[in-house]
Amino acid sequence: RTLESLGSLEGKRVIVRCDLNVPLKDGVITDDGRVRASLPTLNALINAGARVIVCSHLGRPDGAPDPQYSLAPVAQRLSELLGKPVAFARDTVGESAKEAVASLEDGGVVVLENLRFNAGETSKDDATRQGFAAELAQLGDALVSDGFGVVHRKQASVYDLAEILPSAAGLLIATELDVLDRLTENPERPYTVVLGGSKVSDKLGVISHLLPRVDRILVGGGMLFTFLKAQGHAVGSSLLEEDQLDTVRGYLAEATERGVEIVLPTDVVVAASFSADAAHEITAADAIEQTSFGASGIGLDIGPETASAFAEAIRSSKTVFWNGPMGVFEFPAFAAGTKAVAQALTEVDGLGVVGGGDSAAAVRQLGFADDQFGHISTGGGASLEFLEGKKLPGLEVLGWA
Ligand code: 3PG
Repeated sequence: RTLESLGSLEGKRVIVRCDLNVPLKDGVITDDGRVRASLPTLNALINAGARVIVCSHLGRPDGAPDPQYSLAPVAQRLSELLGKPVAFARDTVGESAKEAVASLEDGGVVVLENLRFNAGETSKDDATRQGFAAELAQLGDALVSDGFGVVHRKQASVYDLAEILPSAAGLLIATELDVLDRLTENPERPYTVVLGGSKVSDKLGVISHLLPRVDRILVGGGMLFTFLKAQGHAVGSSLLEEDQLDTVRGYLAEATERGVEIVLPTDVVVAASFSADAAHEITAADAIEQTSFGASGIGLDIGPETASAFAEAIRSSKTVFWNGPMGVFEFPAFAAGTKAVAQALTEVDGLGVVGGGDSAAAVRQLGFADDQFGHISTGGGASLEFLEGKKLPGLEVLGWA
């Protein structure tokens, strides 16, 4: 179901479920990528003369109002980006929301307060969720679901609301699926996947699903130390998931059998402590405890030799998907690996995709522009679950699965 399937939207109240879950620091948005990504759909609806009711979650509040998770700064940013006034309702389905919706003119926009200030949004109980969805449904005549980053959640505004109102996918979801389909249906070869971030346990599904489908997997980030340990190397005080060692050994064996390369770092940057100004040394990946920090050294980035090898592997690929920073990129001293991977991704002669979440924040923080990449997904967990081949409730309900 596409936007066109909803027919004329002039004068209609259209609820748009976006994912405006942006990072905030002291009430200031530090990466507005998700707000910008919502603009094509919102502009299309404004131009069609719809009365646009934007809703989203932000963070993980506990089902009750919590000022630190208010969408007010997002409404403000949206107004700047749209270049027009945007009203803000201080609740989601209460009096403020009803009044704001009733005052909307054709082409007008209101942002409702955080959906997750209502326990019904994320409830595991179907009836509770459906009850909240029914309250939301009273605000609109139709639903446009465009929060790609949240389609893996079976939540009231993502799933149940679409069963009540006439609904369609927005332009962001359509774009995201176009790109992700290119990664899953006959991707051009060589196909390289770059995985980083802190935890192996977050990536188990994607590794096991992608192993039979890709040519190589490059492993960086905090998770690399569990791989090194699985190969028998000491990793000092680096991040380690002991309970995943057997699983990782299984992947290494399966990769060998299938002829897929799992490329691990040959050198790493080891620091005296986890801090921006920590003393640090570069060492071979099999000699982490042999720096002057001994067994207390913590690996915080891939080393320069690894960064060059990863960059070369990326540049020589036709399809690349990257999820998870290579090191603690928030600290400039440990950002070089992530920067090298990002730079190489901009040089891919083919499709280079940055898979949402921390990797998207990283490339922007490191000074890259969105249009340097083939695609920056707005979905972290959602794009990973899509690549795992999982059914995503928010797409299934729209008939897009
Ligand atoms: C995300 O940031 O991945 C999405 O906004 C989903 O958020 P959630 O993990 O809190 O459901």
